[in-house]
Amino acid sequence: MFEWNDAYSVNITTVDSQHKKLFRLAGDLHRAMLAGAVKTRLFQHLESLAQYTLVHFAYEERLMQEAGYPELAAHKAEHEELAQRVREFQKDFEEGRIATGITLLQFLKGWLQNHIKESDSKYAPYVKAKAAA
Ligand code: FEO
Repeated sequence: MFEWNDAYSVNITTVDSQHKKLFRLAGDLHRAMLAGAVKTRLFQHLESLAQYTLVHFAYEERLMQEAGYPELAAHKAEHEELAQRVREFQKDFEEGRIATGITLLQFLKGWLQNHIKESDSKYAPYVKAKAAA
């Protein structure tokens, strides 16, 4: 469910590495769910994913800012929306909402697939071209 492959590459090594780590962290969470891990363990996985997500978003935003990417504001807004959803999931977890697991996995899968393949794949060539200029 969370296997990185070349179709996700944005052709920037550092960003690809960070995306791979996000896939790994999401996969860890998925495996822990399948293994029936206790709530505190699942919460730790989600927390790791949430924290690394913020590190990654900040990194990308810096790249876009330095390159003068014209769609930075829209991309940042997407990041904020995704981060907000993760915070909501953390709250759901804390409060023991039953449907959280599957909904969360579907959300993570959609995010990794859609945001990387569409939004990230859009800024990356711009940033690369600027760096090469
Ligand atoms: Fe790789 Fe815009 O998140």
